[in-house]
Amino acid sequence: MKTKIRRIAISTGGGDAPGLNAVIRSVVLAAELRGWECYGIREGFNGILLPERYPHNGVTRLTVDQVRGIGHLGGTILGTTNHGNPLRFATTMPDGSIKEIDRSADIHRHLKQMDIDALICIGGDGTLTIANALHLQGLRVVGVPKTIDNDLDKTFTTFGFDTAVSFATECIDRLHSTAESHQRIMVVEVMGRYAGWIALHSGIAANAHAIVIPEIPYDIEKIAAMIRNRDTNGRHYSIVLAAEGALPTNGQHVVQEGAAAGHVERLGGIGERLAHDLQNLTGKEARAVVLGHLLRGGSPTAFDRLSAMRFGAAAVRALDEGHSGIMVALAFPNVNYVALEEVAGRMKAVPMDSDTLQTGRDIGICFGD
Ligand code: F6P
Repeated sequence: MKTKIRRIAISTGGGDAPGLNAVIRSVVLAAELRGWECYGIREGFNGILLPERYPHNGVTRLTVDQVRGIGHLGGTILGTTNHGNPLRFATTMPDGSIKEIDRSADIHRHLKQMDIDALICIGGDGTLTIANALHLQGLRVVGVPKTIDNDLDKTFTTFGFDTAVSFATECIDRLHSTAESHQRIMVVEVMGRYAGWIALHSGIAANAHAIVIPEIPYDIEKIAAMIRNRDTNGRHYSIVLAAEGALPTNGQHVVQEGAAAGHVERLGGIGERLAHDLQNLTGKEARAVVLGHLLRGGSPTAFDRLSAMRFGAAAVRALDEGHSGIMVALAFPNVNYVALEEVAGRMKAVPMDSDTLQTGRDIGICFGD
């Protein structure tokens, strides 16, 4: 029999995404109306693991007043980090070396000292892997799926994705006029890590002529042939959408210097590579535009706000029903619960039999294959 809940904590981890504050607001409102107290942990779990950084507010009370009017704001009022995995916490040793130490016991101890009964973890695959570990160690935990990449398994979509796709679409719309005016190839690089969801959805929505995604290694000659064919037919410009994780057949991902904290490699640069190669192959001027972190910012769309509010309220309901070790997920027509162990450490790639991908092919978009 689960003990009655009186206090819960909320943590936001990994890359930020529009909608995080809407989840926080929904959790606090739903919990407070149950008579529960809410506490926010700063910057993932750093608010607990680095007390010297937050002498007074590592874990702070969140009341209705603190979350008033935050639902439409991008980012997270708690802050977040890609660095703070408590299971492998980078710690400086007395000799100055850095060692990864499992500090999950500190999380349990601190939450127990504060009489916090349960945790709501909002994040992507990394954060939800941590959430599952804390659940297996005995903490009551419910996860909420967050990432602009939409690469989390077992949920129709994650909040943040719709906002990223909507903004990318707006940007690509703007590029058609300048590309046509200069008879250029414009290559647009978007985020998404090792999945091509953002590129696929925004590329089709904004009438790109080619889309390259990690799931389909591309043959540059195929894209060049499409561009030449457009030229022959009097269409003297082309828009190429590139997911940052896309790669040529038998080629490697293009990465930036220095890994993004928390990731094995920091993707980025495929746009310039494609522009360079296509300019050489076609003789046409080419330019690359990297949307990067613009896709992480801004106010969440109505769809993402609603998804986030549904997720937040469902996470509180799940705890109230005695669940732990689950993630709330967007199914149809209702939010459902999936076991964290079915999600942790997995990636949802674009399925090759997806009708969205087929739509792109049906309307003549080149996927480099
Ligand atoms: O996972 C979200 C994401 O925005 C990815 O699309 C991107 O590759 C990564 O985070 C960037 O990480 P950082 O913000 O640490 O540069």
